[in-house]
Amino acid sequence: VPPQRLAGRHVIVTSGPTHEPIDPVRYIANRSSGAQGAAIAAALRDLGARVSFVTGPAQVPPPEGVTVIRVETARQMRDAVEAALPADAAVMAAAVADWHVTNATDRKMKKDGSDQPPALEMAENPDILAWLSGLAQHRPKLVVGFAAETDDVIAHATSKRLRKGCDWILANDVSPATGIMGGADNAVTLITAEGAEDWPRMSKPAVARILASRIAEALE
Ligand code: C5P
Repeated sequence: VPPQRLAGRHVIVTSGPTHEPIDPVRYIANRSSGAQGAAIAAALRDLGARVSFVTGPAQVPPPEGVTVIRVETARQMRDAVEAALPADAAVMAAAVADWHVTNATDRKMKKDGSDQPPALEMAENPDILAWLSGLAQHRPKLVVGFAAETDDVIAHATSKRLRKGCDWILANDVSPATGIMGGADNAVTLITAEGAEDWPRMSKPAVARILASRIAEALE
C-alpha cells in the first residue's frame, strides 16, 4: 500500500466522452475511452483521496472505491461537478463535446419523403474547466486540465493553460501516428506556470500514478 499522502483530501475527476442527444435514439459523441481518467481516479484513491468520479458513457469501467456520478451530456457534467464541490483539487480528463444540439427532438426523427435531410442546430457547451478555474468561491486549490493536440503541442497547451485559467495542463500528442487516442500508452508534457516538462512515453496507469503523486506534493 503506498503512503496515504492524500488522506482527507477530496478530488473531483471528470472522465470519458459526453453524449449530446439528437433524438431519443441518436447522439453526437467522440472516441474517448475514459481509460486515462479512470486510471487517474484509481491512482488518487490509492494515495488515500476521496474521489468524486464524474463520468460520461465510457468504454472502461469506473474504478472501485470512488464515488461514481454518471452523466450523459456536458451540461449534466457541469452540474455534477458543481454538486461535488468543494474539493481540494480537480482533474478534468473528460473529452467534453464542444456543442450540443438545440433542436433535438423528443420523438425519433424520420425520413419524411422529401430529399432534404434534417438540419442540426447547435450551441456551445459550457467549458467546465474554464468555469471551475474561474470560480470566485470554492475554486479548488489545484485545477488540472488536458490538452489533446496534433501539432505545436507545447505552444497550444501553454496558451490553453492561460486561456482556461487552470494551474496545470497535461498535454498529449494525439496525432493518429502516435496511437495514443484509445491506446494503452500516453506521452504527455506537463505545463505549469514554471514551464514545460516532457514525460517519457509510458502506460496510462503510470502517467496517472506520477500525476497523483505530483498532486499530493502540490497540496502538501
Ligand atoms: O478546449 P479543449 O477541449 O481542448 O480543452 C480540453 C480541456 O478542457 C480538458 O481538460 C477538458 O476536460 C476540458 N473541457 C471542459 N469542458 C469543455 C471543454 C473542455 O472541461 N466544454
